[in-house]
Amino acid sequence: MSEKGEREIVRGLRDVAAAETSISYVDPKGSLYYLGYNIDDLVGNIIYAEVAYLLIHKKLPNQRELDTFNAELISEMKLPEAVIESIRATPKRCHPMDVLRTEVSRLGEYDLDANDRSKEADLKRATRIIAQVPTIVATLHRSRMDEPTPSPREDFSFAKNFLYMFKGTPPSNEETDVLHRLLILHADHGFNASTFAARVTASTNSDMYSAVTSAIGTLRGPLHGGASEKVMDMLDDIGQEEHVEEYVQGLLDNRKKVMGFGHRVYLAEDPRTKHLRGMVEKLCHRKRTMDLYRKCIKIEGIVHERKGIYPNLDFYAAVTMDALGVPKEFFTPFFTTSRVSGWVAHTMEQYEDAVLLRPSSKYVGTFGSTFVPIDKR
Ligand code: SDX
Repeated sequence: MSEKGEREIVRGLRDVAAAETSISYVDPKGSLYYLGYNIDDLVGNIIYAEVAYLLIHKKLPNQRELDTFNAELISEMKLPEAVIESIRATPKRCHPMDVLRTEVSRLGEYDLDANDRSKEADLKRATRIIAQVPTIVATLHRSRMDEPTPSPREDFSFAKNFLYMFKGTPPSNEETDVLHRLLILHADHGFNASTFAARVTASTNSDMYSAVTSAIGTLRGPLHGGASEKVMDMLDDIGQEEHVEEYVQGLLDNRKKVMGFGHRVYLAEDPRTKHLRGMVEKLCHRKRTMDLYRKCIKIEGIVHERKGIYPNLDFYAAVTMDALGVPKEFFTPFFTTSRVSGWVAHTMEQYEDAVLLRPSSKYVGTFGSTFVPIDKR
């Protein structure tokens, strides 16, 4: 019985439209749109900061607006000293997503305008969070290497600065191009679980840091953004290419999920996969990437033949990030660095929609329980 009479349960909220959005559309037939732009028209033609601007300002910037936005992001990349110290003090055994979840929450303690919830203040806050998340990721990685984190350079784009701060050396043009494409492809994706978590938090009129913290905790799961790290675990476990067939058939025979495959919405191939597969192919001049790519192609064939499903965003994203020199425990933090622009956009849209997201439920427990005082139990 549900709270308001009999209701049909939709397990996993599959295909349930919880609210309207104008930010992105995930077409089950295999297309993705950001504010009406097909991502195929964006990837390779714009830089990541243009997508972040599009998501929070609802239009693509002109050159002057982009230059101003890029400079604003770079100036906001700075972290409060207490956050830097806290990152450095985190035990090395902690997963980077735990650190990211904690430190984004801590950022809220240093927002001097926290009580200003005007649209202007939220937009400024959104820009600052977009800018600071990559700095947390870079600072954590550098601190674990016992290396300093370089300060961002004004002559670099925001995304290039992120990779520069993460690796400690200026990225090549190839690496920078790959990173822009990777971040653009990860920026937003309808009401995926982490975005929906952000919206549920925002729907109570809670603050943006709480909404983003909810999202980070949700993205981390291996059924969602945590999959890319599991893909690399699988590729490492398989070892030599000739072991692919036996390994993957074994997973499927035991009804195990192959990480990086399947999707709740897409009935065809995830439209982001062709871009990522293409990026990996271009990176195959690196022997390790070629070896990984050959294994991926074999896995794709087996899984599609057995289950009729396709690789999702995370499958080739894992190999792409590996080629950029990103340790696999930082794959989901890299995902977060981009998806945070979608989360803050959805948070502001939810503030506009101003309705509490509170579903019903079907009670299947007992009735008529008789109370017995504790001294009689
Ligand atoms: C992301 O929602 C988003 O938009 C997410 C995302 C985004 O940009 O935000 O796209 C990013 O999270 C991508 C997904 C990353 N996760 C993984 O790669 C983990 C592995 N994938 C699965 O766990 C699964 O495909 C999900 C979670 C992605 C989707 O799960 P569903 O929609 O609940 O599908 P299901 O588990 O009910 O599976 C349906 C059928 C089943 O077959 P039967 O048991 O009915 O025979 O498809 C099979 C499943 O066994 N199946 C898989 C599989 N995924 C689905 N079989 C083997 N391996 C898989 N990965």
